[in-house]
Amino acid sequence: MTSRADDTPYDEDRLQADSDEPRRRPSRRAFIGAAGAAGVTAVAVVATPSVAGALDERRRGDRAPRDRDGGRRRRGDRPRPGSEPATTTSGSLNTVPADGPDRFSRMFDRRNIERRDADDMRTALTELSRPGGILDANDPLEVGPIRLITEPELSPDNPDNPTITAGNTFVGQFIDHDLTRDAGSRLGRPDPLDRSTNLRTARFDLDSVYGGGPLESTDLYSDDFRFLVESGGQFEDLPRDDENQAIIADPRNDENLIISGLQVGFLLFHNAVMDRVEATGLSGGDAFAEAQRIVRWHYQWMVLNEYLPAIVGSALIDDIRQNGRQFYNPARPTIPVEFQTSAFRFGHSQVRPSYRANLAGDGGDPFFAMVFDPATFGDADPDDLTGGHRAARRFIGWQTFFDFGDGEVKPNKTINPKISTPLFRLPSSTLPMDRGGELGPTSLATRNLLRHLTWQIPTGQEVAQQMGADQLSSTDLSAFGGFGTALDSETPLWLYILREAEVVNDGQTLGPVGGRIVAEVFMGLLEMDATSFLVAEPTWLPTLPNRNGAEQFGMADLLTIAGVDPDSRGQ
Ligand code: HEM
Repeated sequence: MTSRADDTPYDEDRLQADSDEPRRRPSRRAFIGAAGAAGVTAVAVVATPSVAGALDERRRGDRAPRDRDGGRRRRGDRPRPGSEPATTTSGSLNTVPADGPDRFSRMFDRRNIERRDADDMRTALTELSRPGGILDANDPLEVGPIRLITEPELSPDNPDNPTITAGNTFVGQFIDHDLTRDAGSRLGRPDPLDRSTNLRTARFDLDSVYGGGPLESTDLYSDDFRFLVESGGQFEDLPRDDENQAIIADPRNDENLIISGLQVGFLLFHNAVMDRVEATGLSGGDAFAEAQRIVRWHYQWMVLNEYLPAIVGSALIDDIRQNGRQFYNPARPTIPVEFQTSAFRFGHSQVRPSYRANLAGDGGDPFFAMVFDPATFGDADPDDLTGGHRAARRFIGWQTFFDFGDGEVKPNKTINPKISTPLFRLPSSTLPMDRGGELGPTSLATRNLLRHLTWQIPTGQEVAQQMGADQLSSTDLSAFGGFGTALDSETPLWLYILREAEVVNDGQTLGPVGGRIVAEVFMGLLEMDATSFLVAEPTWLPTLPNRNGAEQFGMADLLTIAGVDPDSRGQ
């Protein structure tokens, strides 16, 4: 846990030295050099003496990996994805709930519960979401990954979203993996909420990056409190074991190449911030605690000021700031199932069928690929973007995903009930194991809908009514009406939210029901976290350099400080 030792204001003038002309694109050297270590100079923040001392002690002593009971663990013993226990954070620099493991919660009342445990409902939801069914965007995969990007008219049901860049999708997935991980409820069978644990802390604290901190997650860190990072041949890669399994705090952050790239980008971002903090004279555990605070606060800033407005619009955020949260008011920070199963899975609709992973990494050529391609599953260096592999071409050129001002950025897909075709046949490595030990369907849409039965999620209409929001009509939802279960008037919340975004906002942002659930949960989690910048220092502004002028900090800035930006790569 960190605390400010003084109230010295940040020296913003020095940080903005290179940003007098908004939108001018600075060279990387000017960009970084403008601030030097200034982004951290005015900060005198330390870990509590006992934690800092313990960290320093640990640095000097035995650093063999230990499991959460304190036993030694070899790298090869790492649990497989989906099977590991909750990361314990006690004794680390991460905050930990004092009152037991995190459970999921509810935001809205449920009615008509029996409808959600009926065989005809399971059958209808599975039929609706099968490969080639009405939720499948039916992208013509046979034309190949390049034409699916350059000729969007080939996928008329899966239009591009001109207002959001391709990287926003994976920031969303990265945030999802920071906030929520169902420990293994039963897919499609009702489970009480207390049957599952959320393996992530319900706060924007990057526990999916920091794990239990250097004291406990010793296999993530070097002796100098930096993250271990390896090379994939040309550029950075996550540390991997002999089977190419990533050695990271949450294995889902190696699920596809783009989220792997974000994870290693955050590792490098922390390491770069450590350099800056040490340049101010702090060292050891104190420097780590301060770097972690700076990393978390810049991340939280980006979430609140770049990511969230892009998906819900600024007006809703302003409304919640002025009038308070109306529907998310739990006694303690928890993840509601309406968010976990429905609203925040909207991001599955943003995923493109194919991406340009980098511009010159494939023997001098760009690396274009489908996000997932069953024909290549199991290959050592597959021609798709599945994670869990190491090869020289498997890194991300970020100018495709975020706006570096060079005209290379590409859009993501609109939010609507059409899901990109590759997500209907996921590789088994991406799927969480059911508590019954089964992998279940490989269609992501089917899994989302069956999870509504698991948690008995209220329908979209019920939630809209409880919110007092305008309801979609059965005509708006008529596509879902043909499955013998009246899904056009009792629509699963995830589907309702996707269709609402399409009907109300042309799929460019979430609509009133989906947007409010996401925005209230995001803002509530930040407002209930005593260590977030919103609570600890509400007037705080980013202190690290940025490219767009005062009071800004976004993913392009973060990746530049991490040293994985296009200028640093030279491609
Ligand atoms: C290629 C991209 C993605 C893939 C392959 C993917 C895949 C998956 C899978 C397999 C699950 C578990 C499904 C289940 O059994 O219930 C899941 C859960 C989830 N996904 Fe995604 N996802 C992707 C992107 C996203 C994005 C962009 C978002 C949000 C913006 C998102 C939000 C969620 C949430 C909130 C969960 C529930 C997590 C939990 O608590 O366990 N996903 N995803």
